[in-house]
Amino acid sequence: MPTHQESLREGQSNGSGRNINFTEETTKVSPLVLARRYASRALINHPLLNLNESTTVIDFGCGTGALSHAIAAYAGSIIGIDVSTSKIEKYNQTATDQGLDPSEMKGIVCDILTENFYFKADIVVSAMTFHHLPDMRSTVSALTRALLPNGLIAVVDLQYDERISAVFANAKKLKKEINHASNCACVVHHVGGIKPAELEDAFERAGFVDIDLQQAAFTVKTLIPERLARESGLQKDDLLNNSTSTVWIELPFLVAVARKP
Ligand SMILES: C[S@@+](CC[C@H](N)C(=O)[O-])C[C@H]1O[C@@H](n2cnc3c(N)ncnc32)[C@H](O)[C@@H]1O
Repeated sequence: MPTHQESLREGQSNGSGRNINFTEETTKVSPLVLARRYASRALINHPLLNLNESTTVIDFGCGTGALSHAIAAYAGSIIGIDVSTSKIEKYNQTATDQGLDPSEMKGIVCDILTENFYFKADIVVSAMTFHHLPDMRSTVSALTRALLPNGLIAVVDLQYDERISAVFANAKKLKKEINHASNCACVVHHVGGIKPAELEDAFERAGFVDIDLQQAAFTVKTLIPERLARESGLQKDDLLNNSTSTVWIELPFLVAVARKP
């Protein structure tokens, strides 16, 4: 019996010729690791983004640079911004270790809500960061200023689901590692993910147009303790299989792209 099960399902087009629906389940790496991998893939393959060697990119909430590194080969230059000094130090160290010049990849500590940010890019990408934002509207509004005219914003994050939210809330109580906030200094303001309508509203209020929001663009399956599932109110139909001590659940991720006029 393999410890790492992969069931990659590709090919379910959403009608726009896109092909980014895939699902993977794992017992070996955390769901966040898989989600990052798929977030990168979703953005690299996204037809509206059309990443190429002349594209300038800002990676908002870049962390230590997982997304930036994945898309570096497809873009001209990347600036990572994050509020965490230690993460930006690691971001820049990794870029240097990879032989990248700061003109190709550079991380900057900045809170775009309170500090001036002078760089402008063709695309702002952001993966797994929006669920940390206390004020999504203001942040999206600030991010429009970091975009050139006709620039695109692309957000990937866990999509809110009431039952999954209950799992995360209970996981925190039970101190289970499914909730990465338990080992991360940042606050999770959107427990269980972000609501598509809230993100769409933030885009619209900031003046973005041509909003393309794919719900459950990809999913990641993960094992959780059976007790946690039961205490979160998950019913038999919500569970992907059953065993005595653990059950599979499926986490949905959204991919949203919009254009600044
Ligand atoms: C879950 S990590 C994701 C990091 C990275 N995007 C990735 O996928 O590996 C969330 C990141 O968002 C950053 N963050 C949280 N609030 C932020 C804000 N207001 N502005 C910039 N970064 C923020 C955190 O410091 C953290 O590095």
